[in-house]
Amino acid sequence: MEARTEAVLAAVDVRKRFGALAVLDGVNLALKKGEAVGIVGPNGAGKTTLLNVLSGSLAPDTGSIFFQSHDVTSKGAAERCKLGIARTHQVPRPFAGMTVFENLLVGATAGGRRRGAEAYDLCLHVLDQTALTPLANRRAEGLGLLQRKRLELARALAVDPAVLLLDEIGGGLTDAESAALVETVSGLRDRGIAVLWIEHIVHLLMQVVGRLVCMDAGRIIAEGPPEAVVSQAAVIDAYLGSQA
Ligand SMILES: Nc1ncnc2c1ncn2[C@@H]1O[C@H](COP(=O)(O)OP(=O)(O)O)[C@@H](O)[C@H]1O
Ligand SMILES: [Mg+2]
Repeated sequence: MEARTEAVLAAVDVRKRFGALAVLDGVNLALKKGEAVGIVGPNGAGKTTLLNVLSGSLAPDTGSIFFQSHDVTSKGAAERCKLGIARTHQVPRPFAGMTVFENLLVGATAGGRRRGAEAYDLCLHVLDQTALTPLANRRAEGLGLLQRKRLELARALAVDPAVLLLDEIGGGLTDAESAALVETVSGLRDRGIAVLWIEHIVHLLMQVVGRLVCMDAGRIIAEGPPEAVVSQAAVIDAYLGSQA
């Protein structure tokens, strides 16, 4: 199957229920190297749950996750991080008592992906890339929400990931910050990282992704070139239903 052989990361017929609610209702999604894919959809559509299942923090009820042709469904989040699957959380989760730089070092050394000077250099690079250098020695608990969101991205980048899973990192940014984020994520994609980006701010996604997926009620209801997807009636309905 193509999804298993060509994809860096693939979800195959993934299902997840919380009680009576089918939060993921047969989702198939494959990400290739150097491809950026956006996910939109109303609140409660199952976007974050899908990301949790891909990153290994949540096990699906049925279905499989493949990373570079290997079935990783039974591997947890720490193991998948070692493989190079990095994620951000919609609500940032830094190590509060550690400095920004220490938070990055945890990512860089997770699972022994890098050590010593190599890990240190990578962290310096990521600090620069995410404009966090001036905050390197600040404790995470003292950061504001936007700074914590930037740290969330930086921690994922410090893993030196093959796959980057982003969950609503673009909210509340100034135009200049948005432009910097678009440039950063586009650069990662161009370096061969597979990016999956959940975002409500569709115009940010449109600048980065080659494919847009719209979820509603645990299913993918539209998928394809971004311009085509945002103009589909089902997508507009799903949005107006939740945001009107
Ligand atoms: N741990 C959980 N236990 C029960 N219900 C949950 C849990 N996590 C998410 N849900 C429910 O699953 C649905 C999808 O949630 P989520 O994946 O966070 O949606 P999205 O990110 O698209 O807004 C929502 O109805 C949410 O309330
Ligand atoms: Mg969410």
